[in-house]
Amino acid sequence: MCGIVGAVSQRNIVPILIEGLKRLEYRGYDSCGVAVHQGGELKRARSTSRVAELHSQTAEDGIASGTGIAHTRWATHGAPAVHNAHPHFSPGPNAAAGTAGRIALVHNGIIENHDELRAELRGRGYEFHSQTDTEVIAHLVDHLYHGDLLEAVQQAVTRLRGAYAIAVFCRDEPHRVIGAREGSPLVLGVGVEAGQGENFLASDAMALAGVTDQIVYLEEGDVVDLQLGRYWISNRNAETGRYETQNREVRTVQAHSGAAELGPYRHYMQKEIFEQPVAIANTLDGVTGISPELFGDGAFGIFKEVDSVLILACGTSYYSGSTAKYWLESIAKIPTSVEIASEYRYRDSVPNPRTLVVTISQSGETADTLAALKHARSLGMKHTLTVCNVSTSAMVRECELAYITRAGAEIGVASTKAFTTQLVGLFLLTLALAQTRGHLSEEQEAEHLKALRHLPVAVQAVLALEPQVIAWSEEFARKENALFLGRGLHYPIALEGALKLKEISYIHAEAYPAGELKHGPLALVTAEMPVVTVAPNDALLEKLKSNMQEVRARGGQLYVFADGDTKIESEPGLHVIRMPEHYGALSAILHVIPLQLLAYHTACARGTDVDKPRNLAKSVTVE
Ligand code: F6R
Repeated sequence: MCGIVGAVSQRNIVPILIEGLKRLEYRGYDSCGVAVHQGGELKRARSTSRVAELHSQTAEDGIASGTGIAHTRWATHGAPAVHNAHPHFSPGPNAAAGTAGRIALVHNGIIENHDELRAELRGRGYEFHSQTDTEVIAHLVDHLYHGDLLEAVQQAVTRLRGAYAIAVFCRDEPHRVIGAREGSPLVLGVGVEAGQGENFLASDAMALAGVTDQIVYLEEGDVVDLQLGRYWISNRNAETGRYETQNREVRTVQAHSGAAELGPYRHYMQKEIFEQPVAIANTLDGVTGISPELFGDGAFGIFKEVDSVLILACGTSYYSGSTAKYWLESIAKIPTSVEIASEYRYRDSVPNPRTLVVTISQSGETADTLAALKHARSLGMKHTLTVCNVSTSAMVRECELAYITRAGAEIGVASTKAFTTQLVGLFLLTLALAQTRGHLSEEQEAEHLKALRHLPVAVQAVLALEPQVIAWSEEFARKENALFLGRGLHYPIALEGALKLKEISYIHAEAYPAGELKHGPLALVTAEMPVVTVAPNDALLEKLKSNMQEVRARGGQLYVFADGDTKIESEPGLHVIRMPEHYGALSAILHVIPLQLLAYHTACARGTDVDKPRNLAKSVTVE
């Protein structure tokens, strides 16, 4: 997804801007660019290649300065092309061809009223050289510029509808960068290098790792003025329309480095799959017993008050929520609904003020999930909790209660360790709600805790199945379609397995609750269609076996992940990998691991860009 870095300093900040972009690279992008104030002019370099290539371009063109902005773009308006890459310049109205820019701007987010603004600005003599909504903002700032960039930006943002984080500078004010945000994240980094008077902007503190750990998380509507040795944050008072000074806390943030070592692994995704035992152990660290307070002060009162749970999330996080629904209803006996955030935010629903709204997010910055949370709150549901992997994220700041998973930085676009640690957090939530509602005896608590503590070892044993999965992946790599089946708790696991396979290997994959097969999808089954079946030894196993027979009878090839004690034997057309142990309620956490490995090795066999699959981005901060 798009990334922003900006800086003012006494020293040349181009290496810092480039390094910042590199740290954001893993999120996925299709073009990148940098612009600086140099020799009284705006200079820029843009590329549809990697940041490394942009780096060489800046060196060749001798681009160096103490003031600049940089961007990685993930196309929304206009194709991935150099003319659409940021920074965008505005040379002013009625400018002769080749006129140098006066305003330089980068933008994350989507401006909804860009057509209307473009028409207005065209009428004022501005020419457009890209299809982006961003160029509209650059011209708008230019139009409102009368010698004070801050004032121009403050006025311009009142005309924008949609989501934005922007960084802007002007040819006529050499040591100044202005940032503003609404709906998209932006942080201010306060410089720590003696004698440089430097200040930074970034869409994520991670971009500034190694430069400063002094971070201010800008809030909705904030406009920040960065100059040498000083910064000023303002926000518009809705009643008076005036901008007022805001004192935001400067936090010391140990931003994790995006450039984490790969070690012996080929890809970050593989590394992250293998980090799961440690990630789960870290997520459980400090959990000595079940108590609502694991989720924050005041959780007991809130858990007592609520009578239902509404889970809001996207993608893989939605599937962890879908798994948790089974736990919440069967163990905590609390009615639970799970909604795709981008759907929930726009549909008419019947709010219940006694609902606990639970958002799940790896990044904590997903635009749809944040918007769904705000929507739920606007409907009167005030109790909110998040299960999130980034403690400093907007999601954690917006929610009353939180459980921070400790998966560590997830670099691969396809989520793996974030998913299993979310499941751990959600299982703890289930137990805490069960306890508050009188459905958890001390013996049950002890048993569940024992099973949770043994999880890292159990996951390690599942990872040892990798060679068997690799053998299957060679078959899968030759296919263009696959079906995944599961039942009950393992149906969302089948969905997650299908999502992993499609997003990184580009094989079309669908998941169904196995009982649904005969209601339509069975028509797809031929000898060419691999059917992956998640078959733990649970109450639904016999039903699942009947569904498998339906596939076999039509010549389908079954690939079954069975438990050690499941009575299913390999035979022609029926391939079985046996899980090391049967794991009861937590079996879903184990069963997803071979599916992650299957997707990973199939993608490797097909030679795709595993960590940066086409068209996708990590942390989706646009709607
Ligand atoms: C798939 C994947 C995505 C994310 C989704 C939500 O592998 O990673 O589907 O799960 O974009 O992201 P978060 O969890 O950051 O809200």
